Parts: sequence; C-alpha cells; structure tokens
Amino acid sequence: MAQLWGGRFTKETDQLVYNFNASISFDKKFYKQDIRGSIAHVTMLAASGIITDSERDDIIKCLNEILADVESGKLEITAEYEDIHSFVEANLIDRIGDTGKKLHTGRSRNDQVALDMRLYTRDEIVEVKSLVADLMKVLHRLMKENLKTYMPGFTHLQKAQPVTFAHHVGAYMEMFKRDYSRLTDIYNRMNYCPLGAGALAGTTYPLDRDLTASLLDFYGPTLNSMDSVSDRDYVIELLSAFSTIMMHLSRFSEEIIIWNSNEYQFIELDDAYSTGSSIMPQKKNPDIAELVRGKTGRVYASLTSILTTMKGIPLAYNKDMQEDKELTFDAIDTVKGCIALFTGMIDTMKLNKENMAKSAMNGFTNATDAADYLVNHGVPFRDAHSIVGRLVLYCIDKNISLLDMTLEEYKEICPVFEEDIYTALSLEECVEKRNTIGAPGPIAMQKVLDINEEFLANL
Ligand code: ARG
Repeated sequence: MAQLWGGRFTKETDQLVYNFNASISFDKKFYKQDIRGSIAHVTMLAASGIITDSERDDIIKCLNEILADVESGKLEITAEYEDIHSFVEANLIDRIGDTGKKLHTGRSRNDQVALDMRLYTRDEIVEVKSLVADLMKVLHRLMKENLKTYMPGFTHLQKAQPVTFAHHVGAYMEMFKRDYSRLTDIYNRMNYCPLGAGALAGTTYPLDRDLTASLLDFYGPTLNSMDSVSDRDYVIELLSAFSTIMMHLSRFSEEIIIWNSNEYQFIELDDAYSTGSSIMPQKKNPDIAELVRGKTGRVYASLTSILTTMKGIPLAYNKDMQEDKELTFDAIDTVKGCIALFTGMIDTMKLNKENMAKSAMNGFTNATDAADYLVNHGVPFRDAHSIVGRLVLYCIDKNISLLDMTLEEYKEICPVFEEDIYTALSLEECVEKRNTIGAPGPIAMQKVLDINEEFLANL
C-alpha cells in the first residue's frame, strides 16, 4: 500500500478499506492526462517563480520517462498504489528524489482528478464527434441515392402516406446533426481548466492559472475553486448526449430489425453484420442491431447513476465523485462501439426497392392524395375525407387498391373524379407533389441535401 497521506495516521489502513477506497484499477486510464497535467503544472510553477527552471526540467524529463515506460510496458501500473496520481508522484520521487516532492506544490488531488477527467472526456468528445460524422456521411450517401426509392411512411406502425427511403433516412440525419452539435456545445461549455483550485479554496502560492489553462488548450481557468473541484455537470451532459445518441441508434435499429424481417423484406443485412442460429439453419439474425438497441439501457443507466450520485453531495469535493469514472468509461466504450458498428451495418445493407414500393402501393397510402384531388376540384376537405373513406371501404371489400378501381366505379361514388385521378394517385405523383421544405418531394429534398452537404463539408 503506497499512500501519499500516511503522516497523520498511526495505524495501517485495513486491507479491505484500502481496496474499497482505491481507484487505481480504473483511473489508471488517466496516466497520459495525469502526466500532461503535471507537466503543465510544473511549467507554470517555474514561470511563477515557485520552483526553479532546473527543477522544472528535471521533473518534466522524468515525467516523460515515466510516460514512455508505461507505454512500452516497462513500468506497470499496479494495485500497490491508491490511484493514478499517487502512482505518478511516487514513481517520480523514486527516480529523482527530493525534487520530485515539489511536483504537488499548490495542487490537490481534488483539482488534479477534476483536470484528468476533463482532459479525458474532452478527447473522447472529439472522437465520438468524428464517429457521428462518419455515420452522417453514410446517411448522406443513402439519401442521395434514394430520392426515388418509394416506401410507406408509418404512423402507429400503420401505413400512412408514401415517402422515400431518402426522406426516412433524412429524419435520422437530422437527429444525428443535433447529436453532433450537442457534443460541440458540451465541449465549449466544459473546456475550462480546474487546475489551481487546490483542495477547494485555491492556494496561497501565486499560481498563474491562465498559463496552466493555455498550456492545456483550455479557453481559460474555471472561476470558482469550490465549483471547480465538485463540478461534474459536463459528465452529466455528456452522458445525457450519449443517451440521446443511443436512443436514436436504438430507434433506427428497431426499424432495421423490422425491415429485415421476413414479413417486410425492405432491406437485407450483409452476412458480415448478421449471425446464425445454433439450431435453426435457415436463420440470419440482426444481432448487431439488437445489441445496439439492448446496450442503450446501460448508457441510460450511467446517466441515472451519476445524477443519483451527485444529488446529495454538499460542496466541495466528496469521495462519492470517484464513482463518476467507471460508468463514464463504460458509456464511452459502448457508444463508440455502437456508432461504429451501426455505421458499418447500414453502409453494407442492401435495399429491396421493389418490395418497399409494393408495400407503399398496397396500404392506401395515397388516400390523403385522393382527398386532396377532390379538394383541388372544389370539394370541401371534410366531405372529401368521407368520400375517400367510402372509396377505401369499397376497395377493402373487393380486395383491390385505389389504383385498381375503374373510372366508372370512382364516378359512382363521386362524379368529380376524372381520368387524371390515376396519375394523381401514383406513388411518384404523391411524393413528388410534396415540396414544402422538409417534405419528401425532390425539390424540397434537394434543398436539404445542399444544406447537409455544406454541413458535412464544414465538420
Ligand atoms: N480517486 C479520487 C477520485 O477519483 C481522486 C481524488 C481524491 N481526493 C481525495 N481527497 N481523496 O475522485
């Protein structure tokens, strides 16, 4: 047991207590951030005249050696240290003696861990953004290629009105655009440096917190030392953004599972993204989509967990906050894995365009257009609605679609119908007439594609 704080204690810590308290098994992930923060800290200490330049140089040289040794596997991060901060400092002191003992001047593990967590999550935000960007590029391609791939749009999982595959995918594109910008917002809000807050009340040393912040590429220092060591809002925001990403992926997965089913056959997932059954030889299961849908739960759990952990904590630092790490790491791994696999899955799936169009034709998805036709010929909408209701009943009874009816049959129900009803009710016409911005018609869709093209070019 290597502890930094043995001086005040007369008894050894009980082993179980030690294990319960220690965080090294998971905060060892921070070794890079911890060393980077320490290098910035001593650079600032020297610039502020608190240590000498040669002490700074010795410490930085040794910290870089420790980093290299950890990376090459020569130095192992073991459970003998309480946490990553103790590990780095103890190794520094082992290697360069008394000079190493100056590293922690004007610093506490409270502001140190606050810094490490921010540096770590900040890098991960950038990575997740780039994965979301890759996903959006695939969605954009699917949109461009499927402006005329007709399919039924659903409400209540009942066929409603015809749309295109481009338009359907475009809905997800909007969701992931929002996810992307949410991550940018979080980055901008959290990118302030807590180092220099000390344990909770700053320090008596003349620390240059602006310098530390700029050395670590932060916009500036945080403005209240108590808040600095006890703020985990950015973790909550990040896990909330992750939960939203997972919710989007999960909804999309659900649709992919439905579309890939034998009943729908709108798409076929690539063999590489499907699995077989150990007993039923005919099966090709959409396991990846199901796992993405399933893993949404654990990301939600991480958000609920941190919110619950934080809710009763008085200012400033309390050990409860050590609980922020494992759940955040797990959520980061889960979200990154899910986005990457989901992207590969939709990039390789095949569309069965004929089945989509057939399905769109069969469910009276053009009934609203039949009503609109009548409205355009002077019939009030409410009357038109009821006339078309009768048409639909008639078709259901004869097991035909609206397009199968003869003009005589139309006219018997309402004399306003003319020969041009057949074009008006064709899938192409139903979709192509819908050109208000945001609608599936080609003119509207082209405008959105242009906007998205520019959005993707500027990521
Ligand atoms: N392992 C701790 C954490 O993750 C580091 C800070 C410890 N500070 C303290 N006063 N015990 O939160």
